[in-house]
Amino acid sequence: MKVVLSYSGGLDTSVILKMLQEKLNAEVVTVTVDVGQRDDFQEIEEKAYGLGAVKHYTVDARKEFVENYVFPAIKANALYDGEYPLATALARPLIARKLVEIAELEGGDAIAHGCTGKGNDQVRFDISIKTLNPDIKIIAPVRECNLSRDWEMEYAKRHGIPVSEKIYSIDENLWGRSIEGGALENPWEEPPEEIYEWTKIQNEGEEYIEIGFEKGVPVALNGEKKAPVEIIEDLNIIAGAYGIGRIDHIENRVVGIKSREIYEAPAAEVILKAHKDLEKLVLTKWILEFKDLVDSKWAWVVYSGLWFEPLRYALDAFIDLVEEKVSGVVKIKLSPNHATVVGRESPYALYSLNLATYEGTSAFEQDLATGFIEIFGMQSVLANRHKIRPEGLKEKIIESRAV
Ligand code: ARG
Repeated sequence: MKVVLSYSGGLDTSVILKMLQEKLNAEVVTVTVDVGQRDDFQEIEEKAYGLGAVKHYTVDARKEFVENYVFPAIKANALYDGEYPLATALARPLIARKLVEIAELEGGDAIAHGCTGKGNDQVRFDISIKTLNPDIKIIAPVRECNLSRDWEMEYAKRHGIPVSEKIYSIDENLWGRSIEGGALENPWEEPPEEIYEWTKIQNEGEEYIEIGFEKGVPVALNGEKKAPVEIIEDLNIIAGAYGIGRIDHIENRVVGIKSREIYEAPAAEVILKAHKDLEKLVLTKWILEFKDLVDSKWAWVVYSGLWFEPLRYALDAFIDLVEEKVSGVVKIKLSPNHATVVGRESPYALYSLNLATYEGTSAFEQDLATGFIEIFGMQSVLANRHKIRPEGLKEKIIESRAV
């Protein structure tokens, strides 16, 4: 049997790499997908071969990740539960796609991953893999064998798997870093400063930056055209140095568990703020109202592991049409712990100084407003003629003073 294993080099997947050989007599092909995590890929490859992998793939998917996964999320202003920019949720379907491609190439019978039965990642991996190729078997030993950390440590020692003491469970990619476990499991405890890596304050002053957008996605930084990956990398460093992008919230997992989640996402915070602001400048109030519903559904669909679901494609079709006009520049002031939008401009701006100004003469015919207000408020005025006052169990309609 040949198994393709999603391999991070950590304890879970290293134990699984050995178990697959020991228990299933499998040939294991390991795959590490680079979505911008700050890992030593050479070391991971050597570790995989050291533990018996027959072949190892390191896939640099950073460009694809940003262009095909992060950019749609920006267009959708994607924040799950209003707070989480979805870094992990966006990377999982891409990793699943790479695993399926390699399994097909290598003639693999199964794909194995290290997800637990308590999290969202199993849902994202399993549904993505099944939708892309229903014939490939899925093996999830942590979930299926109920593996505990203690058992894994013991197994690792017995099998010469190098282990390091880790308190937190961390997942990282270009769009953000998540930290779970240890003292963070107590939702009352303030996170210790040591858990943060991307958002340590290094700049106490302030700084202005300008993000250029074309059709809803960032294309330039401070007037300079940049490749998608570079814009995000740069903004993680620039905004991270002001401590921008820390998120601490209680999250509703797909499997029903509530969890305390900490994220660092400096580029996401700045880009999403800027993008939303630009949308307000160029989109009609009717589109904006409706798009809020579409956006929150999009975030829910993607969080829930339904990336390869027709509903997501349909939502994207609406979003892409709307985003045609979301081009322009947004000016942001960065200061410790804050990113504030302080200016915006666009060739498609619906803002009209001539209409909005309080000064001098304006094209807006003020006296038309009286009739508009009469009609717009008519139902509310009518409804308030009848004042309802509870009297015991009965309600009595009394005429209002207005009559
Ligand atoms: N709660 C986040 C999510 O579901 C982060 C998950 C982090 N995953 C991990 N394997 N550490 O997207």
